[in-house]
Amino acid sequence: MDLHALEQQFRELFGKTPEHAYFAPGRVNLIGDHTDYNGGLVFPCALDFGTYLLAARRDDHRNAFHSCNLAYAATVDDAAFADKPKEWIAYPLGVMKEFADRGFNVWGYDLLYYGNIPNGAGLSSSASIEMVTAVMLRDQTGAEWDGIQLAQLSQRAENEFVGMNCGIMDQFAVSMGKPDCAIALDCATLKYEYVPLVLDGYKLVIANTNKRRELADSKYNERRAECEAAVAAISARHKIDYLCRLTEKQFNEYAPLISDETVRRRARHAVTENQRVVHAIAALKAGELQAFGQLMNDSHRSLKEDYEVTGFELDTLAKESQRFPGVLGSRMTGAGFGGCTVSLVEAGAVDNYTREIGKIYHAKTGLEATFYIAGIGSGAHKLY
Ligand code: GLA
Repeated sequence: MDLHALEQQFRELFGKTPEHAYFAPGRVNLIGDHTDYNGGLVFPCALDFGTYLLAARRDDHRNAFHSCNLAYAATVDDAAFADKPKEWIAYPLGVMKEFADRGFNVWGYDLLYYGNIPNGAGLSSSASIEMVTAVMLRDQTGAEWDGIQLAQLSQRAENEFVGMNCGIMDQFAVSMGKPDCAIALDCATLKYEYVPLVLDGYKLVIANTNKRRELADSKYNERRAECEAAVAAISARHKIDYLCRLTEKQFNEYAPLISDETVRRRARHAVTENQRVVHAIAALKAGELQAFGQLMNDSHRSLKEDYEVTGFELDTLAKESQRFPGVLGSRMTGAGFGGCTVSLVEAGAVDNYTREIGKIYHAKTGLEATFYIAGIGSGAHKLY
């Protein structure tokens, strides 16, 4: 749907013309998953598709939420902060509560959301809804927060209102993305650098498993708790703040302090994944795409074997992609438990890749994969 059609829909729903429009992208993470909440590095980019929000003032102290993607709609006032709705409006409401808690008036809007990010596919549809709301509220209230502060506020909304204990990566990438660049972000300090994505003759291809993510939030929170247990076990002898602050050598030395074998593997993933991001950033800067691809493959293996967040569908897509002619590397991206892979594919091989991998994936899983050539766009912003 284009903006014009969306405006038409707004008029039909609310009987008035939208006054403002905002956009926030989705994101794809190239490497560095489950490192953000371990104080490590991530390497995401903003996509050129995402969530649109049209808004107009209304005369009362309520907000009306509609979505072109989801049937649930509601008009609520501040009692909704206490009710904590389970539907999608929890994401924007959580952000509104963050603004309201700081003294801003967030009520009196008709709101229509439309997203073209596949839902629950690990491309940050939730962070995109949060950030588009945050950008709209900043514009409407005059709050003087920069993109990083808005990302932090949206992360808090997701942690505290939605109850998903996510790290900062998604909101940061969605807020701070820059066209044709990946963001090398240190999640412990929030220091970041834009690294131009020079992929001479290669494309980033996202493949959606279309496998429904089940219990993803609770399994995600469980992984976080396992990492905290590892930090506590190591800290009994050597005080550390985050797993990703350890080198592999230090980790091997301290690992025996972690008595639980599963927890030890989770920690090993965090430590080794962080090192892979360091090497991947250097490889990209040096134009060594082959090395970058190999690191993507290694990352997938670690997420499969040590972190156990992949599953049959993601493993099938990654494995078949990795051995396909013209593919330099392939890995799951995001939280896992279903969702998408991202692969580095020779431009001339992309058509063949999507057709053949689609067939193989269907034969093995009974599911249809969906493919996207990732365009790398800018962070959340006002359209008018
Ligand atoms: C989800 C979370 C992020 C990050 C990734 C895994 O997308 O929202 O904070 O932890 O999973 O890298």
